[in-house]
Amino acid sequence: MTSAGGRGYVQLMRELPHVVAHVAVSLEGATTGFEPDLARFYALAQTWHEDVTLVGADTILAQKAALAHGPRPGPAPDGPLLAVVDSSARVHEWRALRDAGHWSGVLALRAASTPKSGGEPPEKLVVGRERVDLRAALAALAARGAATVRVDSGGALIGALLAKGLLDEVSLLVHPVFAGHGGGHHHWYGPSHPPAGTFVLAGNETIGDLVWLRYQVSR
Ligand SMILES: NC(=O)c1ccc[n+]([C@@H]2O[C@H](COP(=O)([O-])OP(=O)(O)OC[C@H]3O[C@@H](n4cnc5c(N)ncnc54)[C@H](OP(=O)(O)O)[C@@H]3O)[C@@H](O)[C@H]2O)c1
Repeated sequence: MTSAGGRGYVQLMRELPHVVAHVAVSLEGATTGFEPDLARFYALAQTWHEDVTLVGADTILAQKAALAHGPRPGPAPDGPLLAVVDSSARVHEWRALRDAGHWSGVLALRAASTPKSGGEPPEKLVVGRERVDLRAALAALAARGAATVRVDSGGALIGALLAKGLLDEVSLLVHPVFAGHGGGHHHWYGPSHPPAGTFVLAGNETIGDLVWLRYQVSR
C-alpha cells in the first residue's frame, strides 16, 4: 500500500474526526471583551477546510441580533455542515443559520432530555441523556464522513472537549490587547481548568500585530 493509500486507510479507520479549535484571544487568553480581527480570523479559519463547524449554543445566542439582520443568501452547497451543541434547545434561529451563506446545512446536537422547542431544527441528532455526549457526537459525525471538525466557540465547549481528550489541535490568534474585566471568565479553555498536559508546537507566525500559534494536543 502506498503512503497516500496508507493515510487514507488510517483515516477510514478513525473513529473520531480531527478536531481543531481556532479561537481569537487576548493576551490573557480571553475570548471576549475585545474586538477580534474577524477578517484575519476567518481567513485563517479556511486553513482546515473543515467538514463540520462545531459551535456552542452560547456562541450562536451571542450572534442573535447579527443573525436576525444579516444577509441570507441561502445554503452554501460546498460549505461545511454547521453542528450546534444545544442540550437545552436554546437556539431557535435555525432558518437564519441555514441561509446565512456559510454552511451547506445545519444540525442540532441534542440530548434525550432536551425539551421540545418552538424553533425546531431541520435535522437533529440525539446523543447523550442529560447533556450532549461530545464523544458520541463526534463519532456520529465521523460515521457520516466528517474527517475534520473545526470548533468555533467560546471557552466552555473548547474546555469540555479538552477535558475529555477530544481535541487534537488548538489554534490561537493572539491579539495585542488585555481584555481585563471585559473578558469575564471567558478564557479559551473554559471556566474550569482542564487537566495539565503538554502541547506540541505545530506552527507560529506573526501577522501584522497578531501572533498565530498552533499546537497539537498530546494525548
Ligand atoms: N474569540 C473567539 O474566537 C470566539 C469564537 C466564538 C465565540 N466567542 C464568544 O464566546 C462566547 C460564548 O462562549 P461560551 O464559552 O460562553 O459558550 P460556548 O462555548 O459557545 O457554548 C457552550 C456550549 O458548550 C456546551 N458544553 C459545555 N460543556 C459541555 C459538556 N461538558 N458537555 C456537553 N456540552 C457542553 C454547552 O452545552 P449546553 O447546551 O448544555 O449548555 C453549550 O452549548 C460568546 O460571547 C461568543 O461571542 C468567541
